[in-house]
Amino acid sequence: MNSQIIQPPLVAWANGAFSHAPVIRKTTRIQDLTAVFADGQAWRSCDPQLPVYTVEMLETPAGEGELWTGVTHLNPGKVGNEFFMTRGHFHARREQGEVYFGLRGQGLLLLQDEHGKARLETVCAGSVHIIPGFTAHRLINTGSEILSALAVWPTIAGHDYAALQGGFALRVQEENQQICVCEVQNG
Ligand code: PA5
Ligand code: NI
Repeated sequence: MNSQIIQPPLVAWANGAFSHAPVIRKTTRIQDLTAVFADGQAWRSCDPQLPVYTVEMLETPAGEGELWTGVTHLNPGKVGNEFFMTRGHFHARREQGEVYFGLRGQGLLLLQDEHGKARLETVCAGSVHIIPGFTAHRLINTGSEILSALAVWPTIAGHDYAALQGGFALRVQEENQQICVCEVQNG
């Protein structure tokens, strides 16, 4: 075997599972998502331990010029009539962008600029999402399967969750079995 040929990490496009590399895994549960969903009473009535999403990341050295590679697996479900979603964030280094690739499931990527202007992109297997700098981002699972998306972003980007404590300007809910996008006042 030629020692110059190295087996890189593998990702299974069908389900986002990494292999051939050490992975860091973090699960976010209902109890971690305080004040994220509109219906506080419905949130309190959920099982606090219920997993909402898991992020798996390749172990990578961090630093200037380095990249994280991770997959978010967002479960199907709702709190009240609002679809499960990630917390969402700006990057601490606002100018740093990110790319998401849809792997499986059906959902939306909510993007919002620093002036509070929001837009949604459909996420499905094969979708490519260029998230520019200065743009907050959140995944929303509008389907009945796990929504998985691969992401690549600079390790220097960091996360700023506090800047969005007032929430995003759009919420995605189910009404009469239809996906409904609502504008939030003061979002
Ligand atoms: O880097 C990203 O944008 C993703 O890996 C997210 O961190 C992931 O989807 C989890 O979302 P959040 O960090 O908003 O909880
Ligand atoms: Ni990000």
